[in-house]
Parts: sequence; structure tokens; C-alpha cells
Amino acid sequence: MRNMYLLGLALSLASHSVLAQNPPAPLPPKDVFVADLLKQMTVDEKIGQLRLISIGPEMPRELIRKEIAAGRIGGTFNSITRAENRPMQDAAQRSRLKIPMFFAYDVIHGHRTIFPISLALASSWDMDAIALSGRVAAKEASADGIDLTFAPMVDIARDPRWGRTSEGFGEDTYLVSRIAKVMVHAYQGVSPALPSNIMASVKHFALYGAVEGGRDYNIVDMSPVRMFQDYLPPYRAAIDAGAGGVMVALNSINGIPATANLWLMQDLLRKDWGFKGVAVSDHGAIIELIRHGVAKDGREAAKLAIKAGIDMSMNDKVYGEELPGLLKSGEVPQSDLDNAVREVLGAKYDMGLFADPYLRIGKTQDDPADTNAESRLHRSEAREVARKSLVLLKNQSETLPLKKQARIALVGPLAKAPIDIMGSWAANGQPAQSVTVFDGMRNALGQQGTLIYARGANITDDQKIVDYLNFLNFDNPEVTNDPRLAREMIDEAVKAAQQADVVVAVVGESRGMSHESSSRTSLDIPASQRALITALKATGKPLVLVLMNGRPLSIDLQQQQADAVLETWFSGTEGGNAIADVLFGDYNPSGKLPITFPRSVGQIPTYYSHLTIGRPFTPGKPGNYTSQYFDEANTPLYPFGYGLSYTDFSLSDVSLSAKTLKPGASLTASVTLKNTGKRDGETVVQLYLHDVAASMSRPLKELKNFQKIMLKAGEQKIVQFTLDENDLKFYNAQLKYAAEPGEFEVLIGLDSQNVQQNSFQLL
Ligand code: BGC
Repeated sequence: MRNMYLLGLALSLASHSVLAQNPPAPLPPKDVFVADLLKQMTVDEKIGQLRLISIGPEMPRELIRKEIAAGRIGGTFNSITRAENRPMQDAAQRSRLKIPMFFAYDVIHGHRTIFPISLALASSWDMDAIALSGRVAAKEASADGIDLTFAPMVDIARDPRWGRTSEGFGEDTYLVSRIAKVMVHAYQGVSPALPSNIMASVKHFALYGAVEGGRDYNIVDMSPVRMFQDYLPPYRAAIDAGAGGVMVALNSINGIPATANLWLMQDLLRKDWGFKGVAVSDHGAIIELIRHGVAKDGREAAKLAIKAGIDMSMNDKVYGEELPGLLKSGEVPQSDLDNAVREVLGAKYDMGLFADPYLRIGKTQDDPADTNAESRLHRSEAREVARKSLVLLKNQSETLPLKKQARIALVGPLAKAPIDIMGSWAANGQPAQSVTVFDGMRNALGQQGTLIYARGANITDDQKIVDYLNFLNFDNPEVTNDPRLAREMIDEAVKAAQQADVVVAVVGESRGMSHESSSRTSLDIPASQRALITALKATGKPLVLVLMNGRPLSIDLQQQQADAVLETWFSGTEGGNAIADVLFGDYNPSGKLPITFPRSVGQIPTYYSHLTIGRPFTPGKPGNYTSQYFDEANTPLYPFGYGLSYTDFSLSDVSLSAKTLKPGASLTASVTLKNTGKRDGETVVQLYLHDVAASMSRPLKELKNFQKIMLKAGEQKIVQFTLDENDLKFYNAQLKYAAEPGEFEVLIGLDSQNVQQNSFQLL
């Protein structure tokens, strides 16, 4: 069904292509074209191409156009309509060589229709759904004259204190790598040169998710094996999938900032991986080399960055100011400048902009009268994807699904939160177009049932935190507190609960709490909301927690207090309808966690794939001098891969087609999955491997494959996975990627913790 949709979309794109209507003379091949153009450029024009300018108050529009016409800007970001971009492209066409501009934007999880945040997309474990979100985003962004997105963001995140955990796809190398590839293909389609596709620029290269202590912009210090084994593969997957761009990370890696890192940018990215696209700095990252302590001034910063191979300087002053002098003195050779310009021009060629600078801007008469028009949204796609991203964490005594005839108390500061439900990096999403949980439940109930609403609490009563969150969005303060006393609000919510059959509390974080620069030392739900939950529990009414948050939270007490818990992350424009679909059972939840939930912040890092150790703690056989915290269980609250359904599934033992595997051959692992419950439903069968004895300690288990499977009530199916030597390879201490003979365990489960197992020998 969805594939048909994508096919239809592709066909409609082809027929609307400007190229198809009026084919211009084909350009010479890229290398020839770019080399020829490069020969005609002055040094100033070349430097101009390396500047990527943010549209904002610091640069008035008039000035930008003047600079573009003078050949001093290569691309801009943050302008979001054709009408805004056209005059800039016109200005480029007035420049001496008429080199087109490109227009970039952070299209992370949707452009106008906001899809669930990336962490939620990953929770669907559904590659078709994830692809659909990316395709729609590309279609909407390109229709607004955007050529390039700073996405996908594929930083592995294993420390949920990091606010940008919400922007990525979780903790697991294999899952994130699969999604990286899907996203690049979704944005770029068969080619980024087609008008309804946009170029992908994978970020943040590299290892940004491993900032020490989860504190944003902090250092990354990591062993080479861990880098190659766990953190680098997702970037590589995006590049192998053809991503045209790379955005360079803000952090240092083992003491060398990524922006000045020759090994990272030259040896690894260009030489080993063969990346041929454009490398863009992060916002202001080049001048920050001074504060990193590796450059004494702007001149040295620019020199280090261009030598490392940072082609474009985001929000640039420093390339524009310093490169002329550096070239003149010979400190930066002409060849370094030419290499950078070649990549920028090459990317523009790949985006189709030399063939037609107005490829995505189109003609004025075709501009939408209202860029925010409802007709431009893709609501049904957003709802379909959002409901697949919701994870049912607890459902005691079949509290869910709710009955539509029930009297329901809906409480919590996030029940009516049109901004928050979009999540951070919500591109051009309009809060007025979001469906809140309140709206969604009202829509689902129609004339039936009763919904009694009370806010119950503020997100937080800590004014310092409110001020911080509003400072993050100083244009438009997002967190406004109800001036009533906390007690009054709780009393009102308790009264609502007492009148109801069941209570639904929508609690968690405001979107700004899980954002760039929003690191936390605590993963607790804020105190104001914890007090509300405790008061609701005391009413004795069945309590459903609907969580809204951008990172795992430590909710041990709250999940004990609740009868049911639904993790909804930030689920986008159609979030409220999707959540109501699950709450009322119109959709049976199928999401699985792409990241471990710790019991407490002190357990971090809590990723499932940790290496084997000499003194492991063994549940059931506790002993002193084993690896544990004496005041806390070792296990997570909810493991990676976990998520419930309204039906039940059973898995048989694992059978293997052979007990030995020869290099070059393959074997099949099979399990029988049965829907033993009363409803049709989908689940994710996950295959993990463990290398029992190798030249170095290996992970307890590592995800190697999975399948999302729909079964009717009572139905069963044999699920098969093929394994070969490639699945067994790893980077050894010499960074050689190879499989080592010996025993391997095959572990298959519906989450990473409860698994069936068998084993074979690699010969
Ligand atoms: C972020 C990037 C983003 C850029 C442009 C930076 O602050 O780190 O992820 O793409 O801004 O908006």
C-alpha cells in the first residue's frame, strides 16, 4: 500500500518536473563543467562560494541580496518559502558568473507537516513508515524552494542527559545505520537533481552523541575500536547511500576538534570512505576553534578548517575575512581553496541547480497563496507514522484500550500543548495546525463519552528552568505558567479524577527540555508533575500516563503508580489523533524502544550492547565483588527493543539450519512467532548475536537484524533470518574488520532482554 503511494508520488514528481516540460540542453559532465567554471572564477568569487549564511536579524535581506549579486555568498539557510528565495536566486543570476545559490534548512522530522521526532520514528522499527516521513518532508520542503536539509542526524546517543538524544535514532549502531540509509534515500530519491527531492547532509560528523557527561558541546574521548565499531557506522551508511553533504560536529575527538581534524576529514572521510560531496561546518564552528584552544586567532582558525577540508563555513565571517590574506601569503595554497570550491559547485550541480536555478523555486504565478494552507499538509501520512511510533510500556489489567463510553479525566500540562507535541527542530510546523491530545481524544469520542479536562500542574514550577527554556526561544517564549497555586491546580485535577472512570495524565517534558543545549543532570519528570501523579494515584481511579518527552526518563515510581504507560515522545502535527487511536484501541500499538530506559540517572550509560566483563553481576546469584551498584538493580527499567501490544505474542525456540558455518556460506535461524491474544497486532522480532570467545571482549549481544510482522489473532508464522560471515565481523584491536572462528550465540526475542537462544560454530 505504502509502496504504491511512494510510486505514485515518484510518478507525479516526474510529470511535474521542469526538465520534463522543457528539456534544456544537457550540461557537460560534472567534472568538466565544474573545472571549466572554476577556471573563470576570481579568488573573491571562490571564497564567496564557501560562505553559508543564516537568514536572520544579523543580515538584513537587502544586504544579503547585495552580497549575493557581488558573488560573496554561496548558500543560505533558514529562508523557507519560494517567495523569500526567489529574489536571492535573482540576485545570484545578476552576479558575474551567475552561479546559483542553494537554500538549506533543518528539515529533521518534517517540514510543514511535522512527523514524530527522530527518536520516535526509530521506535516504529518500520522502515517504510520512516521512508514515508522523509519523502513527505522532501516533497514539502522542495515545494518551498529548499534544496538541502541538514539531516539525517545519526549521532548514536547512549547518555540521555544529552538533550539532542531526541534528534537522533537512539543507541543502537545497526538500527541507526539502517535508518540513516532509508532517510538519505527518502530525501534524495533517485537523484537530488529532481525537483521534488532535496539533498541530504548527514550530521554531526562525528561522535557528537558521545559528549562527556551528556553535556552539550563537551569533549569526546573514545577508543578507536569503539569509534569504528559503534559510533561511525551510521555516518558511513548515510554516505554509502549517497548523501551529498556532511555537517561537521562541534565537539573535539580525542583532543582535536572535528572542524580542524585532518584524520577525520581527510584520512577517514575522503580517503577511506571515498566521500565526494560537500563538507559544511556547524554554526560558527570555525571561529570556535579559538575557544577549543587550537587556534590563536580567526586567521589560524580559518587556516586549520580549510586545510582539514571544511568546504563551507556556516554563518561565516571567518572564511570571508581571513582567506584572502591566507591565500596571498601562501599559508593556504590555491589548491586548498579550489578543492573546497569544487565540492560546493559539485553539490550545486548534483542538486540540479546549474541546469535550472529555479528548479525548486518555480514561477511566481505558481506560488501558493498561503504557504501554511491546510491543503499543503500531509495529515494522513503523519497520523499513520505517528501511531506506529508510540510505545506501550505498561498495561496492567487491560486498562487500555479505553472505552469510548467512559467518563475520562484528561489532565496534565501536556494535554493541550500544540507547540510541545511538535518536538524540537519542528522546521516550519505551525502550532495552530497541531492536534493536541485533548483535540485527538475529542475527535475520537465525537458525541460519545465524557472528557473532563484539568491542567493539574505546570511543566515545572522552577522559575529558573522556565526562564532558561524561554531564553532558548527568545523570539517567542514557549513555556507559560498558570499563575494559580500548585495546590489549587492539583485539587482541580483530583476533582476531575473523582468524577471519572479513568484518568489520563499527559506528563513529561516541554519540547525545549529535549533540545540542543538542553542537557539535564536529572531524568526525573519535574516535581510539579510528580506531585500531580501522586495525587491522582491517591484517588484510586485507574491511571494512564501518556508520556511526552525527548529522551528516556527515570520513571520508576511513576510507572508503579500508573496502571498503564504509553510513551509518545513528541509525535508531531497529528500526534493527538495518533495517541487517541492507540488509547481507544483503533490502532494496536507496535512501537519498540530504540534506547534503554534507566531506573535512575546514576545507571547511565545503560545501553544494552556493553562488552562482557570479568566479574559480571548474575541475577539470582548475587555476590560481593561483582559488577553492580549496591543501591540499585543492574537491569534497566525498560530494555532496548521493548514495547507491548494489546495482544500477546509467543516465540518458539530458535532452530538453526546448521550447527557450523563456513566462511562464504550462510545459515538460517528460524523461530515461530504466534499471536496468542485476541486482537490482530504487529511486533518486532529481533535477532542478536554474541561472539563467545574472541581476540577481545565482545558485546553481550548486538542487534544484527529484525523483522516487523503483522499477525491476525491466533495466527502463527515462521520467521527466518539468514546469517553469514559478514554478520560476525568486528573491528579488532588492530582495527581490522574480520570475523574470528569459534562459537556464536544466536539470541532472538521481542526485546533485547527476553531472548531464546541457540549457537553455532564459525569454522
Ligand atoms: C546545530 C545543527 C544545525 C545548525 C543550523 C546548529 O546549532 O548544531 O544541527 O543544523 O545549527 O541550524
